[in-house]
Amino acid sequence: MMSLVLTVLGLGAVAEAGSDLVADPRPPEPQPSAAWATGPLDVVVAFPRPVQPEVARGLVGRSISYTASSGRPPDRPAITEPPRTLRIAGARLTDGGHTLLLATDPHPAPTRYALAPTGNGPAFPAFEYDLSGVEVTWIDDQAADDEPAWKGWWPSLDLASVRVLGQHSVPHERLLGMLSRPGRLTLGTLVKLPANGSGVRIESNRAITEASLGDATAEPQDPAKQRPGAITLPDASKGQPQFLSLTVVTGPGPPLSLCVAHGKASREGPFPPIERERLTLPWVTTPSAAEPTPAVVPRLEGGDAKRGEMIFLGEQARCAQCHAFRGRGAAIGPDLSEISRKGREHVYRSIAAPSAEIAPEYLPYTVAVRDGRVLAGLVRAAGPDAITVTDNSAKSVTLRRDQIEQIRPSGTSIMPVGLAGSLGEPALRDLFAYLFGSAGQ
Ligand code: HEC
Repeated sequence: MMSLVLTVLGLGAVAEAGSDLVADPRPPEPQPSAAWATGPLDVVVAFPRPVQPEVARGLVGRSISYTASSGRPPDRPAITEPPRTLRIAGARLTDGGHTLLLATDPHPAPTRYALAPTGNGPAFPAFEYDLSGVEVTWIDDQAADDEPAWKGWWPSLDLASVRVLGQHSVPHERLLGMLSRPGRLTLGTLVKLPANGSGVRIESNRAITEASLGDATAEPQDPAKQRPGAITLPDASKGQPQFLSLTVVTGPGPPLSLCVAHGKASREGPFPPIERERLTLPWVTTPSAAEPTPAVVPRLEGGDAKRGEMIFLGEQARCAQCHAFRGRGAAIGPDLSEISRKGREHVYRSIAAPSAEIAPEYLPYTVAVRDGRVLAGLVRAAGPDAITVTDNSAKSVTLRRDQIEQIRPSGTSIMPVGLAGSLGEPALRDLFAYLFGSAGQ
């Protein structure tokens, strides 16, 4: 009996391995040609051949993994963090199956993202992307409103790279077709230039009607002028990232040419194009530490764990509205059951200056809603068409994705400020006795 079971299992394994190689009637899934993020909550994957709907559906609920250091001040060593993940909450195919639109949790940091491998479930061709590149819109001059007819991503400021991508990506192919119609093409990116202050040079065969770099703005060119000259923008950033924006006129005639380069001629060529690594999507603002961390950390020893528990669960501190500790409390903020491992100083600083160091998955956002509201808090995908925003009183609002006007990282933690002061040292001592266990460490 035993040997029969083993034989059957063995055969099964052989049959499966064999079918992978020869007998599988399904064609192999097409490999993605490119993937990119079009906003904190949206990823696009382009395919040279159509993808089957069930393959897209199989992505829902899966994770995208990334590694990022938490916004730790540079004077303290980074703890090596495990890979983090964000969830795919929706997957939709367009362009006859050539373009896959993913609705995700927010992308908090300029780093590499990759579809996390799974042990089981349908296989999906791997894809990877980062948050480099340029945000691009094209507005049709003949349209009734100023809503962009095309909104998307370019890998660099170089139109040649978009022409190459257009051979594999339907959205880019579509944009290239639009560029021969009267309209306005706007590019925006966060650029980190070398600290030598040589500036940026923009050349086009069409009028450049707007261009700015940080605080520097160029004189707009007359859209009717046939041969516009080059524009040079001075750079006062000393190597800091700054916003670069430009708009060129599009229309019939010779194909658009556009070159955005370093402002200083080099020995190799006259003006070297700005490298892709220098460009970050404009919505990836890296929030600077809003609060200095407290210099003096009080010795919070000798408290009463029982009273600490009451404080943790109580209405004044409200810790349990956002945090769980040993199975009790909510999951808005990180679980604090193992927090004693990070030490008293870390816990004190987290309470006294919550925004000084925010782990990427808890990066808060400001969301401007089309109806005029502005919400601030933690953002999570809620199904394919909605998000939730949780504020610093632990209240969640659900919002349809098409109601989002703009979403930007805010740099201010949703953890309430001033808790250390309002609780006072005796209560903090009790809270620490609770969080650090009766041993008191
Ligand atoms: C409105 C929600 C909210 C409340 C209330 C709140 N926190 Fe937090 N807390 C957060 C979030 C979100 C984070 C993660 C982002 C950050 O570090 O600011 C956090 C982070 C922390 C951390 C750092 C965790 C880590 O893994 O490094 C500690 C410690 C902490 N909170 C303790 C407390 C204590 C103690 C209280 C009650 C006195 C409290 N929090 C109240 C939302 C909250």
